[in-house]
This record gives sequence, C-alpha cells and structure tokens, in this order.
Amino acid sequence: MAGRRLLVATAVVAAAAAVVAAAALEAINVTTVAFEEGYTPLFGFDNILRSADDRTVSLLLDRSTGSGFMSSSMYQHGFFSASIKLPSDYTAGVVVAFYTSNGDVIEKRHDELDFEFLGNIRGKPWRVQTNVYGNGSVSRGREERYLLPFDPTTEFHRYSILWTRAAIVFFVDDVPIREVRRTPAMTGDFPSKPMSIYATVWDASTWATSGGRYRVNYRYGPFVASFTDLALLGCRVGDPIGQMLSSAACTAAEDALLASDLAVMTLEKQQAMRRFREQNMVYSYCYDTLRYPAPFLECDVVESERRRFKGSGHLRLAFRRRRRTRPGSRPARPTRAADM
Ligand SMILES: *[C@@H]1O[C@H](CO)[C@@H](O)[C@H](O)[C@H]1NC(C)=O
Ligand SMILES: *[C@@H]1O[C@H](CO)[C@@H](O)[C@H](O)[C@H]1NC(C)=O
Repeated sequence: MAGRRLLVATAVVAAAAAVVAAAALEAINVTTVAFEEGYTPLFGFDNILRSADDRTVSLLLDRSTGSGFMSSSMYQHGFFSASIKLPSDYTAGVVVAFYTSNGDVIEKRHDELDFEFLGNIRGKPWRVQTNVYGNGSVSRGREERYLLPFDPTTEFHRYSILWTRAAIVFFVDDVPIREVRRTPAMTGDFPSKPMSIYATVWDASTWATSGGRYRVNYRYGPFVASFTDLALLGCRVGDPIGQMLSSAACTAAEDALLASDLAVMTLEKQQAMRRFREQNMVYSYCYDTLRYPAPFLECDVVESERRRFKGSGHLRLAFRRRRRTRPGSRPARPTRAADM
C-alpha cells in the first residue's frame, strides 16, 4: 500500500515537473515581415488575398486553381516561420504546404524541407507531415507524421523550420518537434544548397486522404489557408546555382543564428520535443522496416519507442491516445512535394 502511494506521489511530482518544464520554454520572438518585403506570388494569382497591411495572406483553392507564394530570395541556411490557419470543415484531398526547396532551379539534385498539412474528412483531424530531402534523395523519403494537440483551423499556430549547417529543427509554436542533426553518414542527403521558401494550397485528391479514397469536394470550397507572422531570417543569396556558402557575411549571420536562443537546444527544449513526439507522432520512417529494412544511421532508435510502432512505421492502434483516425483506414502514402 505504502509502495503504491509512493508511486502515485512520484507520478504527481513528475507531472508537476513536466508542467514546469513546459512553462519554461522560451517563446519564439523573431522579426516578421510584410508579404512584399520577403515574398512574391507564385501561382493562382487571383486566389491570393493580401490584407490591407500586407502582413496576412490567404491562399485559396477552388475549382479553378490552388495558389501559392514563394520567397523573393533564396537563402543559405536560416530560420523560416509562418503562423498558419488551416481550412476547416470538410478538407479531404486538400494539402497545405510550407516548405523550403530549390527544386525549381536544380532539378535532379534538389534539396527540400517540408511541412505538409493533409486535409481530412469531416470530424477527422488534419495531420502534419515533415520531410527532409538532400541532393535529389527523393527515393529516400524521411517522413514523419503527427496529429496536432490543438485544432489548427480555429486559430493561427506558428510553424517554423530552422536549417543550419549543423542541424534541421521543425517547430510547432515554441516546441521543437523534430531535430535532424547533420551526421557524416547523411552525406548529400543533408540539404546544403540555397533554397527558396514556399507556401501553397493544392488539390492532392489522388493521395492525400486515405490513399486517395476521399477526393476534394468543391462544394465545401473555397478552401482558405491563411498565413501571417512571416519570418525569414537567413543569408540571402542572389544566384541560386553554384553559389555555395562562401561569403564571410553569410557565415557570420549563420554563426549568430547558431548562437541564438532559436538554435540552442536546451534541456527544456529536448524534453518538450520528446513529449510532443511521444504524444503526437503517428508515423516515422525510422520505424518503417518494410520500406527501410535497415534504419538510417541518423535515426535515434529508442527501443521503448520502437515497440509502440508497427513494422510499417505506423503507431500501433493501442497507443493512439485520441482515436481520431479511422481504425483500419489505409494511411496516405508517403508523399513528396515533387508529386506536385
Ligand atoms: C522580442 O525581441 C525584441 C527585439 O529583440 C525585444 O525588444 C522584445 O522585448 C522581445 N519581446 C519579448 C516578448 O520577449
Ligand atoms: C550530389 O549529387 C551529385 C550527382 O549525383 C554528386 O555528383 C554530388 O557529389 C552530390 N553532392 C553531395 C554533397 O553529396
């Protein structure tokens, strides 16, 4: 009995400690820009709606077209961020993406870092996918997928990508949710060339929701994704091709970024990241032994975590805290923005 009470007491202390750690996480505080200062329309011009102060942009997908914008410059490393509000209600087949890429200028050996938001049928949550490609490694997708611990359609939440020569970190609000450290084994699979930043909404009926079972239904359109708090911190480079990290200015800017609160991975951040992943990750390429019989060397395979995942890389149903995904439904196949 005493042992049991002690256990409960310990759990309470642990929970309290977790709350304290969460509270201690520093808020991301970066300079934001107006659309015109950092971005330019990419496609579906009529479906890009800019607010009067030019600090909020809405991208529409309707029967005629999706839409998108891209950064006016390319960047060699940096911190790229937007607060996004996703379309609500019935969004099957709709994909919203916020990502970095140089696929437009370097076709065969392009780099890419993705946040992809996969729409869903009514009552089912959006899922978020992150991915990393380097030097055209599109046959080696490094997808992870998560459910969000909030409704991303009711208010804005910040999604950020930190890319340095040392690591890539994806953030949701102030919480790092994924860190890919550069290891020698990754060789060219670690993105290394200047990239542009993109935001898009488009019709991915063929795969986005339950492997294409649910297509976009335009009776629920137009689908509106809004972007604000646009932040682009990094070294701008003019000529995209061939211009590798060489200028002292770029190196100095990156050194400053690496030393800043954004990039330093504190113990609190590591703990918050672990908690987010324990509670919300539903797929990881690191546990997908069907696709990759030998895990990539950069995978930090945690035995206690691995047991929660099937050989397909998907979280076992028993571990799905919120049973919001349909049992037995086939997950969307791993995706690449190259499919666009
Ligand atoms: C954010 O950063 C700016 C400039 O560095 C600073 O003046 C401001 O006080 C900060 N805000 C918060 C809430 O920390
Ligand atoms: C990228 O790929 C090209 C062509 O496959 C290869 O020649 C080059 O060495 C690779 N670069 C890196 C950094 O791995």
